[in-house]
Amino acid sequence: MRAATLCVLALCVAACHARQLYAAEADPANPAALCDPVSNTTIEPPANSYPVFSLLAEGSRNYTCKDGKVDKPWALANISTIWSADGEDYTGLIYYYENGTAAFDIYNGTTGEQIGAIPLIAPPVTQPAPSPEDLAWARFQVKEVIGDIPLVSYVVRNETVGGAEPAVCDAPPGEYIIVPSTFRLTYYACE
Ligand SMILES: *[C@@H]1O[C@H](CO)[C@@H](O)[C@H](O)[C@H]1NC(C)=O
Ligand SMILES: *[C@@H]1O[C@H](CO)[C@@H](O)[C@H](O)[C@H]1NC(C)=O
Ligand SMILES: *[C@@H]1O[C@H](CO)[C@@H](O)[C@H](O)[C@H]1NC(C)=O
Ligand SMILES: *[C@@H]1O[C@H](CO)[C@@H](O)[C@H](O)[C@H]1NC(C)=O
Ligand SMILES: *[C@@H]1O[C@H](CO)[C@@H](O)[C@H](O)[C@H]1NC(C)=O
Ligand SMILES: *[C@@H]1O[C@H](CO)[C@@H](O)[C@H](O)[C@H]1NC(C)=O
Repeated sequence: MRAATLCVLALCVAACHARQLYAAEADPANPAALCDPVSNTTIEPPANSYPVFSLLAEGSRNYTCKDGKVDKPWALANISTIWSADGEDYTGLIYYYENGTAAFDIYNGTTGEQIGAIPLIAPPVTQPAPSPEDLAWARFQVKEVIGDIPLVSYVVRNETVGGAEPAVCDAPPGEYIIVPSTFRLTYYACE
């Protein structure tokens, strides 16, 4: 079903236009091109960026294990609007593709229809959360913006609660250790 949806969204790229909230004409296939350079040691968004919406993620961080240690982090979470510059209600889902790349499916919170998708470029820049039991804070670069949604370039994850790596990782191959987690995601566009 997800593949079918992405197919429809891929067709939509030609016909639908990502929303330009600001003056510059960003490219949906390379939305960070107009952004100022970012630091690789802090999670600050680009100096010329603006927050477009902030979503609350509620779900889990899923870890696979190898030799008693975390092998790869995954996630599955619902997202809902905390704040948006355009007053719209966005909802959606965070998940990982099989290849370990994270993505967001974005829905119209009023109608429940999927209106876009935001795959990310891995890995993010991270900084430790204030408490070690909480998932690290992070800044992700957006790979592309698909569908009729604002043309965002970077996503910052902060205010994490739970979700940090388990001290003991003993899930058998193909299974996850599920660590409940909530956090805030703020999506930025560049001027
Ligand atoms: C941050 O890292 C990326 C990828 O390694 C690199 O292309 C970029 O130039 C670095 N940015 C800075 C400000 O050092
Ligand atoms: C997302 O919300 C739906 C509907 O409330 C729920 O059934 C589902 O378990 C939630 N998924 C996650 C990952 O929390
Ligand atoms: C864990 O995350 C992966 C990647 O998003 C997802 O495919 C899987 O269903 C999740 N498992 C659970 C139990 O939440
Ligand atoms: C991961 O998979 C997704 C979905 O198939 C694809 O769009 C993306 O380009 C892949 N990423 C990498 C780094 O291979
Ligand atoms: C959701 O759909 C309603 C009704 O068509 C529309 O007014 C609203 O702008 C849409 N919101 C988003 C976030 O697309
Ligand atoms: C998390 O990021 C948002 C958006 O930039 C910001 O408003 C909020 O103050 C940040 N939270 C903390 C605890 O720094």
